[in-house]
Amino acid sequence: MKIAIDGPAGAGKSTIAKKIAQALQYIYIDTGAMYRALTYKVLELNVNPENEQQVFSVFKTLQLALVPADGKGLTFRVLIGCEDVTYAIRQPDVSHNVSAVAKHSSVREAMVKLQQELARSHSVVMDGRDIGSTVLPQAEVKIFLHATVEERAKRRALELERQGHEVEFSQLLADIERRDFLDSTRAISPLQKADDAFEIDTTNLTINEVVDIVLTLVSRSQPHV
Ligand code: DC
Repeated sequence: MKIAIDGPAGAGKSTIAKKIAQALQYIYIDTGAMYRALTYKVLELNVNPENEQQVFSVFKTLQLALVPADGKGLTFRVLIGCEDVTYAIRQPDVSHNVSAVAKHSSVREAMVKLQQELARSHSVVMDGRDIGSTVLPQAEVKIFLHATVEERAKRRALELERQGHEVEFSQLLADIERRDFLDSTRAISPLQKADDAFEIDTTNLTINEVVDIVLTLVSRSQPHV
């Protein structure tokens, strides 16, 4: 069983995906973390994120690993070699540059292969931008989550404040709008709703309401669940 959850930044993908994985005892795979880890390394090595050849060279030596942190496959640490970058990949400089890194076709091709490999022998909930359209086109359940950009920026601000970061709301909103634009206008597998994905506007829904909708869709796709 494969469940694909796509949507723009802050639509609630990872929160919902984790809860669905927990409810069904599936493995959760956060593909955004993979692009973020590469971006972290690219910046650390002072490589220009726009330079596809150099970015792909960094990818080839990345030694990226997603290591389950709770024994259940719901939370994981992101490692580059022995370095734990789980928190570092969420920092604003990585968020600001990740779309430039993720647009390169050689990088996407290699990442998609890696993601398909990770999903091959497990039931998974995978979230990202192109999961239903490109990574797992055969997924039994495809969800496209979205919400207004103001609501998504509010959620991000709350999350960052909880982690003790200072946030400038207008900056956060502008960054999300910029990332939406870059992710949905790139040439290779842009952020888009797969034709057969079920669209959920989460603006006025609670987390539990969204989870219930997704679990209902899962049970409909598999009558014995
Ligand atoms: O889900 P996230 O915000 O952590 O993702 C970070 C970036 O990675 C996102 O702005 C675009 C890119 N990404 C992608 O291009 N394809 C995916 N499947 C997942 C993420």
